Amino acid sequence: MSAPVVVTTRAELAAALAPARRAGHRVGFVPTMGALHDGHAALLREARSLVGDGAVVASIFVNPTQFGEAADLEQYPRTLEADVKVCEREGVDVVFAPDVAEMYPHGTGDDDAVMVRPGPLAKVLEGRSRKGHYRGVLTVVAKLFGLVRPDVAVFGQKDYQQLVMIRRMVEDLCMGVDVVGAETVREPDGLALSSRNVHLDEDQRRQATALSRTLYAAVENAVYGLGPALDEARAVLRESDGVDLDYLEVTTPDLDPLPDDPAPGTEARILIAARVGTTRLIDNLPLTIGRID
Ligand code: PAF
Repeated sequence: MSAPVVVTTRAELAAALAPARRAGHRVGFVPTMGALHDGHAALLREARSLVGDGAVVASIFVNPTQFGEAADLEQYPRTLEADVKVCEREGVDVVFAPDVAEMYPHGTGDDDAVMVRPGPLAKVLEGRSRKGHYRGVLTVVAKLFGLVRPDVAVFGQKDYQQLVMIRRMVEDLCMGVDVVGAETVREPDGLALSSRNVHLDEDQRRQATALSRTLYAAVENAVYGLGPALDEARAVLRESDGVDLDYLEVTTPDLDPLPDDPAPGTEARILIAARVGTTRLIDNLPLTIGRID
């Protein structure tokens, strides 16, 4: 496996992608903030399988506009050398690792530059406690799409709200990128892989499995209807110590509210967010409500 070309400027990125574009090859793209783990590796593999002989690009950029607290931004792990090794293992062709000035030449504030207004979904679920977060995410993804001009981009289902909102942006702003959601990668005990898991101590790591156990309890009982599914999920949470629940919600797959009495066979999504110690974790799963006989 040959090492990817690592570029930091827009001009270098364009030059690195020129041969693939001239040859008419497809371009697959995985945007990341680095600190790559096996979940990211799965996204890179998915991108490769989608474009075949085409070019796979990964971006590594800790995006300041999606952080609420300056301290969180400063403390975010920056591990470029190790990340490039992961990209090499997964057959990535180009790593784009710009600095803030390259991505935001006019600045990062509303008064400095054009920013994406994220629409109604920014007010639900994660958006309720992370003001401005999706404005930052959608803005940087729009910019990265403009620079990389991918045919297909792969995001994890782990950040399900992010995935749905990016799909919605691509549709509403006519961006013409195929957005693929890759399944969440889990530890053997069900914990979803996340760069935040490193902040959990041994006890908290055990407690954190309550999130996926809660979701699976709902999924397994959804056949009996939404009420029983949520009852079983809440029972798991009641028996779990150390988990400070933010929300447990069932929505449509597009994150709209479910009808009061969903018909048997209704496809839905269950989403959870909770704090374990000081670490905020999220997870979600698809589920089908009621049995179709
Ligand atoms: O999911 C992430 O890592 C980030 O939110 C993304 C999509 C790379 C935008 O900065």
